[in-house]
Amino acid sequence: MIDPATASADIDLGAFAANIRAVADLVAPADVMVVVKADAYGHGLIPCARAARAAGVTWLGVATLGEARKLRDAGDTGRLFCWLYGPEEELVVPVAHGIDLGVHHPDHLARIAAAAATAGRPARVHLKIDTGLSRNGCPPELWADLCAEAKAAEDAGAVEVVAVWSHLAAADEPTHPANAAQLAAFESAVAQARAAGLTVPVRHLANSAAALAQPAMRFDLVRLGIAAYGVDPADGTLAADAGVPLRPVMRVRAQLLATRRVEAGAGVSYGHTWIAPEATTVGLVPLGYADGIPRHASSVGECAIAGRRTPIRGRVCMDQFVIDLGPDATESAGAEVTLFGGPGSPTASGWARACGTIGYEVVTRIGSRVPRRYIDSAVV
Ligand SMILES: Cc1ncc(COP(=O)(O)O)c(C=O)c1O
Repeated sequence: MIDPATASADIDLGAFAANIRAVADLVAPADVMVVVKADAYGHGLIPCARAARAAGVTWLGVATLGEARKLRDAGDTGRLFCWLYGPEEELVVPVAHGIDLGVHHPDHLARIAAAAATAGRPARVHLKIDTGLSRNGCPPELWADLCAEAKAAEDAGAVEVVAVWSHLAAADEPTHPANAAQLAAFESAVAQARAAGLTVPVRHLANSAAALAQPAMRFDLVRLGIAAYGVDPADGTLAADAGVPLRPVMRVRAQLLATRRVEAGAGVSYGHTWIAPEATTVGLVPLGYADGIPRHASSVGECAIAGRRTPIRGRVCMDQFVIDLGPDATESAGAEVTLFGGPGSPTASGWARACGTIGYEVVTRIGSRVPRRYIDSAVV
């Protein structure tokens, strides 16, 4: 772990709560499930889960059973939905812990019903229809069977069918034709489930992008991930267009470890992929690709010192990289460098653009060696 004075990811739980509340106001009367998988997109599972609950969030969502287990072990007793587990994973404890499980195939239902018998309580399940993502979820040709089996399992007291749900392929492109097709397929799957005798109290389809931009997709519940963390899902204006001012939750910062003067023609960092065209001062930032700083940011990313942009020069190394402070630099070791997420600094989306990736990856990859420091801008 890096010393927090040297480098840290500062997590603003006040901004996190404000983002959640802003989206909740927009989508009401639909409810909000805050997605805290992947260590809350790199922001820290338990602190973010607690902050979400404190902000009044009824539902949390995770991908893996391990993540769900950590939340229960930390004392979270609220509604918790988990949708990804392997064929050998044990389901009795999750059912006993009241964790809602995604069901993607009739085989899952049989396993869950068996686990419920051992756990001595009905399992809460959400039936997932594949509406066109072709990644997970019940293939349409098995949907009638799944609904019939779910109804039988519900009648037998083995499961409670809480929801029908699905996931979108192109929600970040609101005019993409897949959106209308998936919406129609979802509505038809819900109708089929109800015709099979299931009440389907909850329908959920939308992620952040759809929650912001597609009112018809909000149904009873939206699954809110990236927007809660203050990153626009489409690297654009989806949130602003919806009147939702998102605030970055993660700021990655470090202290300059050293500065040095380089003369024109000096090669900087491994491979000398950047040669100083004129004399300048460069500064050493103590974070690297082992910390999740993309190597693709080599010579294309930028940081900020007191709002002044400082470009990355040469290759990002495992533990450090070099920025250009300019020929007239006055900074010295100890100066505060913001990589992204601060006022007047680049954003996670800006880093993503420079690196040919998405803001999700930029924040989620910040590694475990980088200490998280929790602040609440609402109270400081
Ligand atoms: C099934 C599912 N629902 C919801 C989300 C949240 O998506 P977003 O972060 O775009 O809001 C994800 C994240 O990838 C997901 O996998």
